[in-house]
Amino acid sequence: MKAVILAGGEATRLRPLTCNTPKIMVPVLNRPFLEHLVAYLKTHDIVDIVLAVGKLPEQVASYFGDGSKFGVRIAYSTEDFPMGTAGAVKNAEKLVDDPFFVFNGDIFTDIDLSAMMRLHRQRKAIASLALTPVDDPTTYGVVETDSEGRVKRFTEKPSPDKVTTNMINAGIYILEPDILTHITPNTFSMFERDVFPPLLDSGHAIYSYPSSDYWIDMGTPDKYLRLQHDLLRRHPGPEGAEFEGESFAHSSARIEGPVLIGEACSIDRNSMIRGPAILGAGCRVGEDAVIEGAILWLDCEIGRGARLRNCLVASRCHIGEESEVLDGCVLGDDVLIGKANKLSNGIKIWPGKSIEPGAISF
Ligand code: GTP
Repeated sequence: MKAVILAGGEATRLRPLTCNTPKIMVPVLNRPFLEHLVAYLKTHDIVDIVLAVGKLPEQVASYFGDGSKFGVRIAYSTEDFPMGTAGAVKNAEKLVDDPFFVFNGDIFTDIDLSAMMRLHRQRKAIASLALTPVDDPTTYGVVETDSEGRVKRFTEKPSPDKVTTNMINAGIYILEPDILTHITPNTFSMFERDVFPPLLDSGHAIYSYPSSDYWIDMGTPDKYLRLQHDLLRRHPGPEGAEFEGESFAHSSARIEGPVLIGEACSIDRNSMIRGPAILGAGCRVGEDAVIEGAILWLDCEIGRGARLRNCLVASRCHIGEESEVLDGCVLGDDVLIGKANKLSNGIKIWPGKSIEPGAISF
């Protein structure tokens, strides 16, 4: 089976992490996000993958190539301008046949794709959409269905008094190739706005596949952090500490799982790593430093007595002695935080910026 992965968006909400790194290459458990998605697709015998991107991102092509190292075949479909979710699939028309999957490239899920395909074939739908429940549907596109699961209506961001269901579009579709005749070529268009509603109006059958399996869209910093906390609790497990290669941890350092530590890290005396937390390869944690709930990419240096809590730190950042980077803060690559700063409440610092010692106090 084939899947088109949509990966040509701007990824603005995940900035500054995505200033230098495409969203599908952002590390999750120290591996590019796309590697997880590919592994998941393979478990459902989906080995032909079309990656719909804007311009070909070098990092993706050099890491994944034609996919053979990962046991799949990857073809790339590029766009001269952002064509939207439906426009991007139309643009990849020559690369698809038979009913195929379409995936938003930022979804991590356990939804049973094989079961979804079986149902799709039985129902003879032109399209099937996976649906997932959310607590607050007012910020999503909700999908109303009848008792047989046939889609009745799409409502974008309903106001609280208009909410009739908490089931939202999960960003996973199965499409019959015929649907492509309903999409205008070389034009920006979105499935849920420009393609599916007119198809419903003209009597086409679109069915839903509701699922309460794990589902998260990792397109914002808080959900990217939550995804990794969730995955760490599965692997290495609630108490687990996994070292991916040779690293040094001083005998007085405390490491409480779930924690994942990349190769060639060093963890100095009296420091504490409290999970869920991840150190990318080459990170150095100074004496008395405390890291809890944080995700660090590659080669970060954490100064003596510094404290990191529930924050995201991209590659090669330096956190000065006694500095704090707390709740929801996001640092891009190569950020230098001078000593004795206190960053909190989701402050974002763009790649390459330096903060003078003591310049930020909360
Ligand atoms: P934000 O800028 O933070 O909203 O992120 P985004 O650009 O990724 O947009 P959004 O999360 O709404 O997109 C959902 C998925 O569709 C992502 O995987 C995007 O990469 C992808 N996507 C969005 N627009 C396009 C497009 O024009 N072309 C292609 N190929 N993919 C797109």
